[in-house]
Amino acid sequence: MKEILVSLDHVSRIYQVREGFFSARKKAVRALDNVNLELRRDEILGLVGESGCGKSTLARVTLGLESPDSGHVKFQGRDIASQDRVQRRAFRQKAQMIFQDPFSSLNPRKTIFQTIREPLRIHGLCPDGRYRERVSQLLSSAGLSDIDVADRYPHEFSGGQRQRIGLARALATDPELIIADEPTSALDVSIQAQIINLLLDLQEERGLTYLFISHDLPIIQFVSHRVAVMYRGQLMELMPGGNFLSHGGNGQATRARHPYTRYLLSAVPLPDPDSRHVKRIETREISGTGLPGESAGCAFAPRCPDAVEICRKERPQWQQIADEHFAACHSPLEQNS
Ligand SMILES: Nc1ncnc2c1ncn2[C@@H]1O[C@H](COP(=O)(O)OP(=O)(O)O)[C@@H](O)[C@H]1O
Ligand SMILES: [Mg+2]
Repeated sequence: MKEILVSLDHVSRIYQVREGFFSARKKAVRALDNVNLELRRDEILGLVGESGCGKSTLARVTLGLESPDSGHVKFQGRDIASQDRVQRRAFRQKAQMIFQDPFSSLNPRKTIFQTIREPLRIHGLCPDGRYRERVSQLLSSAGLSDIDVADRYPHEFSGGQRQRIGLARALATDPELIIADEPTSALDVSIQAQIINLLLDLQEERGLTYLFISHDLPIIQFVSHRVAVMYRGQLMELMPGGNFLSHGGNGQATRARHPYTRYLLSAVPLPDPDSRHVKRIETREISGTGLPGESAGCAFAPRCPDAVEICRKERPQWQQIADEHFAACHSPLEQNS
């Protein structure tokens, strides 16, 4: 078993938000609700779920940019909340993030050279002072040429180039963990593939660990060693990646066994090898939108076509249902149904 690099241990994060624009009343939004998850060294863990389910919150909490309201985040076995200054600095160096829109995270008044030099300076990673050379190497790792890029400003670049610049900056600290939060969602499809391939190459070359967040299931299938599925702040399923959309060569059956994951999958068009048409995995009626607020049972029960009485009454336990396969569900679906 690979070393566990990061673990989330019963992590919850609750936001108090106004009920309406003019309302003084607040309600609690459980952006993360008792999440247990481990990231293994050298793996790419894909995290999927609909918009608003808590993926970015999970990213921020994992990096210590926000503290959980309860539970613990551990990096190499140590709670990041109890790091001293030196440890925190080392953690900031080892764990980096890349964003959906790198533009908003690049300082518009700094040249690309200045932007990438900054983390090198802060962490003292260029003791000989040869910043030009180091920045040039980093840009080239991200597939950019120094001459074309270093002395220009962020607004001069396209989305794909900016993502490469963001990546060069992330690589500057020689990280072990990279959290990529929807890194390709803002890009054209042709550019998406380039960035994904670059990320995969870097992962292999440098032995990086990724938490790869996306709502795009085919991309998650393509990159992930394991896949975690989230709904309303809760983990619903965790399973091996690879062929998780379609399990095996010919059939349309999927490895996913949680009704929510199947529901997500049902919205993904898959090419049908036997015809020239695109076919959906299976069509399942889902009613309602899921009522907000606390319910005693499973968060997905109000929308679940397979819900039975217990689902509305009791929160399902997170349990192992097969090798490397976990789900929070009272009655996981059969493998091939
Ligand atoms: N800073 C915040 N203040 C209040 N509510 C927030 C904040 N950040 C996120 N939320 C809420 O938490 C939930 C999860 O958000 P987020 O983590 O951004 O989801 P995702 O990245 O999956 O789209 C959403 O309901 C969102 O509105
Ligand atoms: Mg998000």
